[in-house]
Amino acid sequence: MNKTLQKNLDYKKYVIDSKLQYFKPHASKIEKTFAEEISFSLNRDSKYISPKFFYDKKGSDLFEKICSLPEYYPTRTEISILKKLWSELPPFIDDTFRLVELGSGASVKTRLILDVFTNLQKTTEYFPIDISEILAESSEKLLEDYDSLHITGIIDTYQGGLEFLKNYDDKKNLIIFLGSSFGNFSPSDGKNFLQKINSTMKSGDLFLIGLDLVKDSKILESAYNDAQGITAQFNLNVLSRINDELDADFDLNNFSHYSIYNKEDQRIEMYLKSLVNQSVIISKSNLLLGLKKDELIHTEHSHKFTLDQIQKLLTSTGFKINHTWLDEKTHFSLTLVSKV
Ligand code: AVJ
Repeated sequence: MNKTLQKNLDYKKYVIDSKLQYFKPHASKIEKTFAEEISFSLNRDSKYISPKFFYDKKGSDLFEKICSLPEYYPTRTEISILKKLWSELPPFIDDTFRLVELGSGASVKTRLILDVFTNLQKTTEYFPIDISEILAESSEKLLEDYDSLHITGIIDTYQGGLEFLKNYDDKKNLIIFLGSSFGNFSPSDGKNFLQKINSTMKSGDLFLIGLDLVKDSKILESAYNDAQGITAQFNLNVLSRINDELDADFDLNNFSHYSIYNKEDQRIEMYLKSLVNQSVIISKSNLLLGLKKDELIHTEHSHKFTLDQIQKLLTSTGFKINHTWLDEKTHFSLTLVSKV
């Protein structure tokens, strides 16, 4: 029995055609349900809703809109840096590398890297890892545009997907984690996550991470509080999602979007603020939630980094830095590392 069959038995394989297949874990995984997580995170003094719940269909669409807002510099800036990889990534990779992406995309960003791979390789393997079934949609779009592409989608959490990859085969991987999604982790969770990635990698594998940099508070705060109010809609949408999926009765008019840059902790903090004293029923979480006027529900942390911190973070988690790319304003960074 080969490595794949032996160790990835808890995944079911779905072959769509010669260029597209998926792996999905059997339903046996014990994960808390949405209802349970919300019941836990709102039934306490300091209330929070995990940012992973932002991304239902509506939330993902709103996030797409955020990415092209004039105030939201990260996406635009990261794209401008990724364009440099067309000529500057090839020295680091060869014909034997496959591209693995944490969080999948049919986005401009994924394409900029696929352009490099497909130009260098006769056939290119792309492994998107994403918990969302949107993965299927975006994979099909990519296959329409890249003739030499073979996609294996892993529909699982990042942790699960990485574990799967480790047991899959001995092919070299370039793992990419873009958009400063890493910024959502707390410093300690972030470190653990990097260690997890490191332990998944073989020597010779590469990891490319996009991280947002510390900058003027005004630039940061307007990026998370845009004039058109799209970020506000994005933040409030999580309450609509709870209404729809957990039979709750949040009145969105009774909440406002609030975001602030915490300079000391180097992070944007996003909250939903209760505008009145109110109670909300969340049926499927068995919860009658009381909220005071001005009480905050925390929804997101988006950490920002200095170049020095990025270097320390990566070296302390077992990596050596191969290259760092920046934009001319030093607003965003892309760092390519390998295992020491
Ligand atoms: C997807 C986590 C990178 O933190 O900038 C954008 C999410 N939240 N506007 C970020 C987000 C509000 C975004 N990440």
